Amino acid sequence: MKSATTDLPIELHDKCFELSISEVDLEARINTLGQAITSDMGEKDPLVLVVLKGAFVFAADLLRALEFDPEVEFIFLSSYKGMESSGDVKLLRGFDVDRVKGRTILVVEDIIETGTTIRVLNDFLRENGAVDVRLATLLFKPASLKEHTEPDYVGFEIAREFVVGYGLDYEQRGRSLPRIYKLKAEG
Ligand code: IMP
Ligand code: MG
Repeated sequence: MKSATTDLPIELHDKCFELSISEVDLEARINTLGQAITSDMGEKDPLVLVVLKGAFVFAADLLRALEFDPEVEFIFLSSYKGMESSGDVKLLRGFDVDRVKGRTILVVEDIIETGTTIRVLNDFLRENGAVDVRLATLLFKPASLKEHTEPDYVGFEIAREFVVGYGLDYEQRGRSLPRIYKLKAEG
């Protein structure tokens, strides 16, 4: 079961997770990001490209924190197996790439770990004529990077730890949790 309002640990499959980032902290940070994106990018009329599945909750809150009304598209990428990034990025479902040509794109991601997913997506967008690609990610694990990436907007930098909740999953569970949890150390 989901723990609704407490900060008690939770179980998903065979693993135990503990609170990492609360709803209050998520909301405050996302509002700040929304304001920064509005003032930096509002005039450029960016196409917002949400990376599914993980970024859907973050995107829903971030979009409502913007003070402009952008076009929104979704791309469905997958690179994860269990608790590890496979390094092999699969395009599971795309969108009409003609919409990218000549546009400024704001990619919305849940988390950047190795940086591979975002590098592949960035190359794809540039090849299809995007003039500028900016990146907003809720979470960033700088210690896990394998490819150079500098996200433009970062919600929270976190350590090399596995997290779930607020859109992020462990083996397809945990996405509906309203806050971020991290894997609890054993013992
Ligand atoms: P990257 O290609 O290694 O940067 O991996 C990025 C993708 O892996 C993210 O979009 C997530 O979907 C997934 N991912 C990375 N770290 C975590 C985590 O701690 N929990 C859940 N999913 C993660
Ligand atoms: Mg993702």
